[in-house]
Amino acid sequence: MSQIRSRIIGTGYSLPAKVLTNDDLSKMVETSDEWISTRTGIRSRHVASEGEYTSDFCVKAAQMALKNADMSAEDIDFIIVATVTPDNTFPATAAKVGKILGIRAGVAAMDVNAACSGFIYASQIADNMIRLGQIKNALVIGAETLSRIVDWNDRNTCVLFGDGAGAAIFKAYEEKGTSADRGILSVKIFADASHYDTLCSDSGVSFNQKSGFIHMDGKEVFKIAIPSLIEGVESSLALAGLSLSDVDWYIPHQANARIIDSVAKNLEIDDSKVIVTVDHHGNTSAASIPLALAESVESGKVKAGNLIVISSMGAGFTWGGMVVRI
Ligand code: ACO
Repeated sequence: MSQIRSRIIGTGYSLPAKVLTNDDLSKMVETSDEWISTRTGIRSRHVASEGEYTSDFCVKAAQMALKNADMSAEDIDFIIVATVTPDNTFPATAAKVGKILGIRAGVAAMDVNAACSGFIYASQIADNMIRLGQIKNALVIGAETLSRIVDWNDRNTCVLFGDGAGAAIFKAYEEKGTSADRGILSVKIFADASHYDTLCSDSGVSFNQKSGFIHMDGKEVFKIAIPSLIEGVESSLALAGLSLSDVDWYIPHQANARIIDSVAKNLEIDDSKVIVTVDHHGNTSAASIPLALAESVESGKVKAGNLIVISSMGAGFTWGGMVVRI
């Protein structure tokens, strides 16, 4: 029976011009390129300059995605931004993006906070709305300026994070309703609030009127990230009625190359099928997956018709997976 699916018809990304290398960081805190690259796989990250905001990266990524989709802002009927670093406490960064892009009145705009799993959570919402026939074209963005909530004196965390945005245009298409369809074939999202304090900002609006800094128990996050990323892959593939042998590309959340390697080894996914950007992006939380997707489409690695499995894990803890034939 035919079914409405969300096809990803355009992707885009934006990164701050300023690049911070491991050597730059070794002049700021007691660390070294050797320590950072062997423990995390990160060599450099982009960081926002003064006067650059999360919405700036969202808008540039959205403009590139719209161009690649051969669409204009007037065609968009839903905006969703996944972020933990909004421009303002309120309104939503999605509203600011709508204002700058000149999106017409009446189009719903909202943010979602699911940390590093934000893009998968946002995709779940947009995909459900498309499949229910409530909207036709969604602008789905993951964006962060994590540099604003990093304590630049804390070597345990400041070496890990970066800034940027990735965007995707989802469009409703009538498909056959089989696993051979193009578009989003499944999404699974999960959370376990018992880990609320394991990875968190030490402050908040209601708590103490500040945005605070990132704190985490790195070893505990590392341990739980691996099975969570695996569950994201396995559960979304099972829901789509597909298996790992069908997959052309795996896009994991980009937190640490050692986590990615371990997940790929466990799942027996060949390294050549794993998209890795953490080396030059660092961990950009909700932006990491759409950034990796948009970069690999732009480079020609990911092609129309390829089957991609995506999985993520982040603060909350949240985790999830999705399967998309691009
Ligand atoms: N440079 C040099 N030394 C450092 C640095 C640094 N930047 N940071 C910590 N160290 C020191 C520590 O102080 C410690 O020293 P000590 O033994 O004298 O106390 C030593 O290095 C070892 O520290 P560990 O914490 O044991 O190092 P580990 O091998 O666990 O690596 C890391 C730390 C990279 C944070 C790792 O635990 C990790 O990647 N965890 C996952 C966390 C993550 O990626 N979080 C991102 C958000 S969550 C997400 O996106 C999924």
